Amino acid sequence: MQNVLFLTADARGRFERALVAAREELAALAPRDRDLFEARLERWFQHLDDGLAAVYGRRPDFAEFVERLVRALARHAVARPEPLKRLDLERDLTPDWFQRERMVGYVFYVERFGGTLRGVLEHLDYLEELGATYVHLMYVLRPREGENDGGYAIADYLDVDPRLGTIDDLTALCEALRERGIATCVDLVLNHCADTHAWAQAARAGDERYRGYFYTYPDRQEPDAFERTLPEVFPDFAPGNFTWDEAMGRWVWTTFNAYQWDLAWSNPEVFLEVVEIMGALANRGVDVFRMDAVAFLWKRLGTDSQNQPEVHDLLQALRACSKIATPAVAHKAEAIVSPGDLIHYFGTGRRYGKVANVAYHNSLMVQTWSALASRDARLMTHALRAFPPTPSSIAWGCYVRCHDDIGWAITDEDAAAVGLSGAAHRSFLSDFYSGQFPGTFARGAVFQYNPATGDRRISGSCASLAGIEAALDAGDEQALALAIERVLWAHAVAVGFGGIPLLYMGDEFGLVSDHGYLLDPDRSADNRWMHRPAMDWTAADRRHLPGTVEARVYHGLATILRARSRTPHLHAQTPQEVLDLGHERVFATLRRHPLGPMVGLYNVTEDVQRVSATVLEAHGLGQPYDQLEQRFVDVRGSVLLRPYDRLWLV
Ligand code: GLC
Repeated sequence: MQNVLFLTADARGRFERALVAAREELAALAPRDRDLFEARLERWFQHLDDGLAAVYGRRPDFAEFVERLVRALARHAVARPEPLKRLDLERDLTPDWFQRERMVGYVFYVERFGGTLRGVLEHLDYLEELGATYVHLMYVLRPREGENDGGYAIADYLDVDPRLGTIDDLTALCEALRERGIATCVDLVLNHCADTHAWAQAARAGDERYRGYFYTYPDRQEPDAFERTLPEVFPDFAPGNFTWDEAMGRWVWTTFNAYQWDLAWSNPEVFLEVVEIMGALANRGVDVFRMDAVAFLWKRLGTDSQNQPEVHDLLQALRACSKIATPAVAHKAEAIVSPGDLIHYFGTGRRYGKVANVAYHNSLMVQTWSALASRDARLMTHALRAFPPTPSSIAWGCYVRCHDDIGWAITDEDAAAVGLSGAAHRSFLSDFYSGQFPGTFARGAVFQYNPATGDRRISGSCASLAGIEAALDAGDEQALALAIERVLWAHAVAVGFGGIPLLYMGDEFGLVSDHGYLLDPDRSADNRWMHRPAMDWTAADRRHLPGTVEARVYHGLATILRARSRTPHLHAQTPQEVLDLGHERVFATLRRHPLGPMVGLYNVTEDVQRVSATVLEAHGLGQPYDQLEQRFVDVRGSVLLRPYDRLWLV
């Protein structure tokens, strides 16, 4: 026992008490497994205790709560299947498993991709061909009937949607994926459950224990006080943050839709419930939890109740729970927030490197689309340069599109720094991507117009936003060629950024938006469904038919992914900077790897650009080799970049 020496005096008391309790639970384990659990408990206890103490530490029963929690963790360790115990060891030895340059994520709705969980099994070759080493299965757990926010209103976290299969099918799929070297990510919707979840039903029926799982109010006094500073997530179809529940005779906090009841994380019982769910799903074979909408977990009067420090403490404690009981599991934070708030999901200050393993790089995604519309890299360069260095133990989730809308998370300060008005630029982007701006290549739609703030978020598939849909309709080959290059440009930026690239189903071959959702009454009000089309396997089959759009996008992307896997510089541990070339049209990154530097150059225009060779020479790249096209690049005073060109120079 080495680590115990480093525990603070306070934590040590609780550790010793918890250890005694854990030993009772661990009796069924083999001695070596018991030792391992104890070593892990000791190793991660301070992280756990710090996170919990910051949130629940003043409660008189705090030490007892910690003991109950550690008992639960011990039970999960006891229930852990043998193959997963082996995986725990592997990943304890290889803590950078999710940071490697071979990691490629693929994100899909199970129902849209394979029909059912078993249906997905039929497409494992497809995933392997793509080079996927990670899949995010959207949504799997049993959602409420009828409207359910695309599966993000969970009625039972321990069961699978019967339309998709059974919980055993989930286990079987995780196993089959693991055999092919593919990790499975599943959503853990932490901020809310469905109004039909047993907890909500019990709260409705007047059960005091479960009423304490939610924030409910007898009248409008408190809700009104909160509303003064709360923004609106769905101003259009779910205005306000509270819903009157007739059966309960009370207002209930509902940040998202009226049927999504926010969980009261101030109640430690909620924490325990979630830990039970995590343990159960981890033991089913889930490798990564996508912690949904985490920014909202903590409410504070007089604030926007987002990104509160308690959120980061809670996430730190949850991560420590996984590290102790099911260490093969990684946590990915979904916090779609502004740049200044985002970094805290990796932990800053005393939480440095302890909060989440992976977080979505929402800023990179937003800046990519912004740069493509304006054909200007300055705002992107400025905003991304402002990010502080990230801990070496984490990875960004880098994406171009996902199942959600795009909100223009561009701050007024960043815009002003490059001579733009934030409001005007955000408005331009909404006009541009909803197809209203003269000469736009994009075919998207406005999602959730908020008249109070002027905000207009955007829906639409990657291919439609990048111009493929419009070019195909117009039969314009030149426009099509440029649109395909835009898709590849955006993906090269994301894949070359050094985190886990997360490809969204269909984008790999240019699937355009689908308006069929309008016929489904449970979906028609939510135009995010336009970019959640069913997988078009016939179109996917054309990926090997030379000359088709599908083949052009797919092979372009395959080149990028192959290059990634042979570029060690793209391991997430490699420090990265965004370079300011003083060039308006070229975005540039620098990764400092022991093997030598890698400079990424990305021309965001449909014109030829030149970058002075001095930039490369300054980083020791006199004779640069492009990892993407696998050739030496001709440098005579400057490097030439073709329209939408991207170079990964080593
Ligand atoms: C996340 C999901 C989104 C959902 C929301 C509420 O942002 O990605 O689809 O609407 O959480 O659960």
